[in-house]
Amino acid sequence: MSRPEIEVRGLHKSFGANEVLRGIDLEIGQGEVVCVIGPSGSGKSTLLRCVNLLEEPSGGQVFVGGTEVTDEDVDIDAVRRRIGMVFQQFNLFPHLSVTENLTLPQRRVLGRDKAAAARIAAENLARVGLTEKAGAYPSSLSGGQQQRVAIARALAMGPEVMLFDEPTSALDPELVGDVLAVMRGLAQEGMTMMVVTHEMTFAREVADRVVFMDGGVIVEEGRPGQVIGAPRHERTRHFLSRLLDPAMAEVEEETSDQVGKGDA
Ligand SMILES: Nc1ncnc2c1ncn2[C@@H]1O[C@H](COP(=O)(O)OP(=O)(O)OP(=O)(O)O)[C@@H](O)[C@H]1O
Ligand SMILES: [Mg+2]
Repeated sequence: MSRPEIEVRGLHKSFGANEVLRGIDLEIGQGEVVCVIGPSGSGKSTLLRCVNLLEEPSGGQVFVGGTEVTDEDVDIDAVRRRIGMVFQQFNLFPHLSVTENLTLPQRRVLGRDKAAAARIAAENLARVGLTEKAGAYPSSLSGGQQQRVAIARALAMGPEVMLFDEPTSALDPELVGDVLAVMRGLAQEGMTMMVVTHEMTFAREVADRVVFMDGGVIVEEGRPGQVIGAPRHERTRHFLSRLLDPAMAEVEEETSDQVGKGDA
């Protein structure tokens, strides 16, 4: 196989005295879909944010498409253009139509002309099944539709890889399926994807590999059937049993809220 599309070597990240990533090594091949799972505070978002330099790593290296993005001389804007990111909150501009939300970044960041930006916006709205919402405003869309617009907005930039940080966790359960279907389609088209998610069915069916993180390290990784179906480590088993037992998860969530979790 050619060089991995994403390569993380010895990645460390601290916020003050809090060491959040404690040496992460991870390779993601071209067209590979990797789901990252793990308890709250384990460093999943920080890992994603280090890959596209929304956070500056404290140590180690990150390569995307063979370019070292942690090189201090790197053109950070050029790197970010190659990486699409989708967050839990969709962050659409409320005063712009769906189409305008897609064309603005293409014109500002990529310098595309109006016609090209509009054409690519339309192509990507079709890709997420929202052609008929082109002229609508975000507030008139469901959460699931807004998230699909956010995905289309990222795709319109022509990224080589897509990073998803819990893209469905803010959605009502009945809206999750449409967003996952779009992501599944992207995976089938061969997009390289790194997905932080608690959707175990999606991870099982779509991921090539599942990575379980806890305490800033990768505890185990492997085929989804292995990591989710037959975890080797006690910490993975504990995490999965909590996920599958909502009553227990609720108790633990309350506890972690009391401790105070920052996801700034
Ligand atoms: N900008 C920041 N400044 C200070 N601390 C931060 C910052 N971002 C994250 N942290 C801390 O880093 C740790 C890991 O956070 P991170 O958001 O990566 O966890 P996570 O695995 O994504 O959790 P969750 O499942 O709740 O989203 C937490 O202790 C968090 O408080
Ligand atoms: Mg997170």
